[in-house]
Amino acid sequence: MTMVAATPAFPRLGAVLIAQMTDIHVGFAPDEDGREELNLSRFRATLKRLLEGPNRPDLLVLSGDITDHGDAASFAKTAALLADCPFPVLPLVGNHDSREELIRAFPQVVPAEGGFLHYVVEAGMGLRIICLDTLEDGRHGGAFCEARAAWLADRLAEAPDAPTLIIMHHPPVVAGIDWMDPAPQEPWIVRLHEVLEGQSQVQAIHCGHLHRQITTRFAGIPLGVTPSVAPLVAMDLNPIDKDVPDNRELITTEPPTYALHRWDGESLVSHYERVSDWDVLARFNAGLQPMIAGMFAERE
Ligand SMILES: [Fe+2]
Ligand SMILES: [Fe+2]
Repeated sequence: MTMVAATPAFPRLGAVLIAQMTDIHVGFAPDEDGREELNLSRFRATLKRLLEGPNRPDLLVLSGDITDHGDAASFAKTAALLADCPFPVLPLVGNHDSREELIRAFPQVVPAEGGFLHYVVEAGMGLRIICLDTLEDGRHGGAFCEARAAWLADRLAEAPDAPTLIIMHHPPVVAGIDWMDPAPQEPWIVRLHEVLEGQSQVQAIHCGHLHRQITTRFAGIPLGVTPSVAPLVAMDLNPIDKDVPDNRELITTEPPTYALHRWDGESLVSHYERVSDWDVLARFNAGLQPMIAGMFAERE
């Protein structure tokens, strides 16, 4: 098994906090006139929030489409911004990435047999994270071949009682955003379903790729998609005729979003924060202290 040395020293807040950023797409547009591209500035803002906000994570997962073209320069820019992170970073490949360039920028990732970038991390407090590689070069949608299915089955079989979180780029579900969806019975989806069915130690599956937040179930397991750091896919659930442009919205500048998965040793809860400017309307000050204390009184 390939392991990435990523176990946090200790959970800071009585729980392990796993941040997930996905679909950063660095390198979509060139930097122009000394101004960095939109995607890099959205990434910078999201990372700043993680580093300077109240909920510093113990781990950060980048769940694929880290770059837009899989090129060395975009990976290098991303890795440079993450170089001083006080927590381990777990990168996964998406369909826009290149395995070779990901490894060059993030040498902590060691390819497994067959060259796949899948690995297991002990996250702390008994939680195991299995990161999957769903890339097939040249394909937009996901992939999960027999070799990867065998690898995942072995990983699950070696710790059948360990609470496990699976993170992968491609959601193996139909979300209703027609132009982004897979067909429901694609072979890779059926294969993944077969491996995961009945694996009750899997607490959740978290994905990216869709650039939109959803929650559903897959093989009986809760499944979430974290929205992108790059611009979002518009929420339009109408069927699309691929041959007839209807001027619908496709991509929007809705704010970048990241997820924070909180594991307290018993349950996994996922929070999502949009990174934009906002006003604070109330603070825990002397005036509001009685209200807060009253809420605690109910718990006694
Ligand atoms: Fe993407
Ligand atoms: Fe993708």
